[in-house]
Amino acid sequence: MNDVVKIGIAGLGTIGSGVIKSLLRNQSDLEKKYKFKFEISGISASSKNKERSFNASSFVWFDSPIDLARDSNIDLIIELIGGDSGIAYDLAIEAIKNKKGFITANKALISSHGKELSRLSEENNSFIGYEAAVAGGIPIIKTLRSGLVLDQIKGVYGILNGTSNFILSKMSEENKSFEDALSEAQILGYAEADPSFDINGLDVAHKLSIINSLCFAEFPSIESINVKGIEAILTLDHKYAKELGYNIKLTASSFSDGGSLRKEVSPTLVEMGSSLGRVSGVSNVVCINTDYNGTIILEGEGAGEGPTSTSVLSDIVDYSSNNKQYLFNKKFADLLDSKCNNSVIDRCYYLRVFLVDQKGAMSNLTSILGKNGISIDQVIQRGGVHLKDEKNFTPVIMITHPIDSESIDSAFAELINTDLISMDPIFLPVLKDNL
Ligand SMILES: NC(=O)c1ccc[n+]([C@@H]2O[C@H](COP(=O)([O-])OP(=O)(O)OC[C@H]3O[C@@H](n4cnc5c(N)ncnc54)[C@H](OP(=O)(O)O)[C@@H]3O)[C@@H](O)[C@H]2O)c1
Repeated sequence: MNDVVKIGIAGLGTIGSGVIKSLLRNQSDLEKKYKFKFEISGISASSKNKERSFNASSFVWFDSPIDLARDSNIDLIIELIGGDSGIAYDLAIEAIKNKKGFITANKALISSHGKELSRLSEENNSFIGYEAAVAGGIPIIKTLRSGLVLDQIKGVYGILNGTSNFILSKMSEENKSFEDALSEAQILGYAEADPSFDINGLDVAHKLSIINSLCFAEFPSIESINVKGIEAILTLDHKYAKELGYNIKLTASSFSDGGSLRKEVSPTLVEMGSSLGRVSGVSNVVCINTDYNGTIILEGEGAGEGPTSTSVLSDIVDYSSNNKQYLFNKKFADLLDSKCNNSVIDRCYYLRVFLVDQKGAMSNLTSILGKNGISIDQVIQRGGVHLKDEKNFTPVIMITHPIDSESIDSAFAELINTDLISMDPIFLPVLKDNL
């Protein structure tokens, strides 16, 4: 490798601009601390003449990001465009085939093409860094790639999407509606113009699939994860959850369970004072259950220019120290295709229905639950709270005793075919975590 690392940066938006400013600001510190010298040898984005938060005219402009990867003067490509296909994918392949180092903050790319990238990086002996792709500034990838070398990981769980956590926190702490909390997130720049992946759980699923590969030697795949988003959660769910001692969070979890893996993204009730229950606003948290180190908890900023740029810089320093590792901790040949999880475990669920206000309704509801093996630990039923325009339905909240998900699915299917309820019921798992 050259003494001076020649860098090409594709994508000059929030993160791309942040990385350039951070590199320039920390140039002499990087040289002193890591003996790392660099030159930004080319930049590329969609529009050359767009106003940027740094002086773009002082760098060589490339109309096509692909040409950065073909330039023999450039050692390291940093992809900060986004998307799992198109230009980001083409750039990754071109960079690796041309034996360049490749760094990205793009979880969709690593998750969707992990298998191919793992094979190609091995064949070409290339460096691929993706610290910024999961949980912004939290060094979760490094922790899993090199921090727990001999430890056995039993499970990993956490909050991996700042936008959805911000929305749920605003609903819970300030009684806001989902729509108001989302528009506040958009005004503050936390949510994309199209926030669907943040809300429907797919952004978290991409991140979980990457973490899962590092922990359990599977190629990433979101198809093998049970994914549920936060769209159906109402402000009143937060109110009742709090009454019962819980907060509602969009959680990701992957647990090794008797030989199979249970992977899930779902709104979940977590104890208010627990490591997940305490995390508010745009923060993220990841908990790793290990054999030798107990539970390791990493918490911090999950997105944004500053934290994400720091993670990209840490990959650049790794590249400069020639720190090459297998993409997902293991050789391509030792990784398995990820399997759908059919394992069934018993756990408590939060159930909310809007029950028709008529004689015998409660007993019909409990009889459907009972028929499916579901017994109730706690119940809240209050008159006077109604759905807009549906004065005949009032909310009933229950916490079940531990039960498997098949019984929950079967009760759900039965309930939605009755006249007992208005709106689909929601069943949310309850996570017991006293940490
Ligand atoms: N924002 C965050 O907090 C955050 C956190 C973690 C990870 N990430 C990841 O970081 C990556 C970048 O995110 P971002 O928030 O910085 O996005 P962004 O602000 O939308 O910037 C995207 C950049 O890509 C450029 N671009 C788009 N299409 C292009 C094309 N066909 N050819 C060349 N350049 C193209 C845009 O060019 P113009 O500027 O000319 O329009 C822009 O500079 C994504 O993978 C994202 O998931 C972001």
